[in-house]
Parts: sequence; structure tokens; C-alpha cells
Amino acid sequence: MTILVTGARGNIARALVRKLLEAGHDVRAAGRDPGRARLPTGVEVVAADLARPESWDAALAGVTKAFLYAGTAGLDGFLSRASGLAQVVVLSALGADPASADAITRAHGEAEQAVRDSGLPWTFLRPGGFAANRLVWADSVRAGVVRDPFPESHSALIHEADIAAVAVRALTSSGHLGAAYSLTGPESLTVRQQASVLGEVTGRPVRVETQDLDDYRRELTATFEARGLGRVGSAEVVEARIRRLAALVDRPQATTETALAVTGRPARGFAEWAADHAGDFTR
Ligand SMILES: NC(=O)c1ccc[n+]([C@@H]2O[C@H](COP(=O)([O-])OP(=O)(O)OC[C@H]3O[C@@H](n4cnc5c(N)ncnc54)[C@H](OP(=O)(O)O)[C@@H]3O)[C@@H](O)[C@H]2O)c1
Repeated sequence: MTILVTGARGNIARALVRKLLEAGHDVRAAGRDPGRARLPTGVEVVAADLARPESWDAALAGVTKAFLYAGTAGLDGFLSRASGLAQVVVLSALGADPASADAITRAHGEAEQAVRDSGLPWTFLRPGGFAANRLVWADSVRAGVVRDPFPESHSALIHEADIAAVAVRALTSSGHLGAAYSLTGPESLTVRQQASVLGEVTGRPVRVETQDLDDYRRELTATFEARGLGRVGSAEVVEARIRRLAALVDRPQATTETALAVTGRPARGFAEWAADHAGDFTR
């Protein structure tokens, strides 16, 4: 049984590939730029891009199950070629809803709907914010000053290893078809508290300065454009993200215990994520 993992370069895909290999499964990884995937040697990596539907013919040959990054355009081309799969596990987002006024949750809701309509057996993973989003702070943490427009905004960031662990269970054990798992980290922390944790882990204090909102808007737009988020216009996504951050100022984000329920292991806290990534903030 070969499992296809798309988004080869992504933080979750890389964690998932490693876990599946450790558990003895045959894995094929697919990414737009296989040379930059940084996967363990021995993993088959193929070039595939949702923007080029025909690229999935080779990627899907002989595959029984797939893990799919679905936030981008081109999903229909993938789904029409994937009709023989026994399961697709979709990386969606917390609150996914095709009727949502929020551009991010609406895009993910539409992606889920397309998967449902395809008739493929599915499992949806709906994580909240990734702890890995904080990797964009690497240079700032090294310099000792993080700039953010909402220092008191909360988030219950989730470790990529926990999303990957839930994906492994969903792909390799029974009882997950038709399930939608809402996933968060175990604790809600403000931006200031997250910066403080990174300061403790790196051994150098990190100050937080309030950033001008237009500067933040420009930076976030550049980040999203670099990632190639094609499904929704990046301006709409940026504004949706800003509204969410503002709504969580001084307001803890609700957490879920779904990762524990599915994997039997509590979700990792932000301090554990920071320790696992200390090298990214000190090199
Ligand atoms: N960041 C968050 O806090 C968060 C929270 C909840 C849900 N999500 C969702 O999770 C997904 C990934 O988020 P991220 O960008 O933050 O994570 P990321 O780990 O940076 O991964 C982005 C991945 O998307 C893949 N991708 C982008 N365009 C593609 C295309 N045309 N064809 C195939 N693959 C493509 C890339 O794969 P290759 O470059 O390897 O091809 C890349 O690995 C998105 O759908 C996002 O909406 C994110």
C-alpha cells in the first residue's frame, strides 16, 4: 500500500513522511519542487502541482491513500484523477465552512465540499494556527525584537508533529472515514508570551514592539504571495487574518483535545515546539 503525501516541502508533509516511514509504510511524496523537499533519503519524491492537473497522473499511479494540501486552486483536476483511492486525508482549517464570511475558512469549506462531492472516502484535518508560522520570526528573535501589530492577541498554536500524528492515525487505522478533526495546541498564549518562550529557549530575551498595521499588511501579503496561495486572492486572506488577530486580543482561543483523543498522546505545547526548533532561531 503506497501512501501519497502532497505538499512535500511543507512542514506537516515532512513530519508526516518521516512518521509513515518509521512505521514501515511505503510513501511517495509529491511537491512542486522535489529538489527542495529536504526529505529523508530513500523517499520517492515526484513533481506534481495542483496548477498542472496532468502532473498527478504519475504521482497517483499505484497509490491507495493520499494526504492532500487543499488550500490552493486546481483541486478538481486532482480529484478527477484520484477516483480509485480508498481514502483522502485533507489538510483543511479550523472552522472550515463554505458559507463563512471569512475568506480563509470559506476557501477550506469549499475545498472540503469539492472532496465530498467527488465521492472519495475522506477524513478532514482542521488545524488552527501552526506553531511553524513563528518561523518567520527567526531573524527578529536573533535580533532580540519581534514586531507585531497585536502583541496581546492569543493563539493556541499547534505543533506540526501533532497534525502529522493525527494524519498517521487517520491513514493507517480504521474508524476515521467521514470524520472532521478540529485540532489546536493545548494552551492559548499571547504573541508576547510566545516571544518570551522563544527568548527562554534561545537564552536571549526577546522584546515585542507594536508594529504599524500597514507594515504588517505588506509583510503578510509578501509571505502569502511567496507561498503561492492561489485559491483566494491574497488581499482577502490578509484582511481575514488581520480581523482574526484583532478579535483575539486579550481573548484566549478555545482549545480542543482532539489530538489526544485520536493519537492517545496530549498535543505538544508551544515550549516543546520552540525547543524542537531552537536551531532555527539561533543559527
Ligand atoms: N499556517 C497556518 O496557520 C494554517 C492553519 C490552518 C490551515 N492551514 C492550511 O494548511 C495549508 C498549508 O499551509 P501553510 O502554507 O501555512 O503551510 P506550509 O507548511 O508552508 O505548506 C505549504 C504547502 O502547500 C503546498 N502547495 C502550495 N501550492 C501548491 C500547488 N499549486 N500544488 C501543490 N502543492 C501546493 C506546497 O507544496 P510544495 O511547495 O512542496 O509543492 C507547500 O508544501 C494551507 O492550505 C493553509 O490554508 C494553515
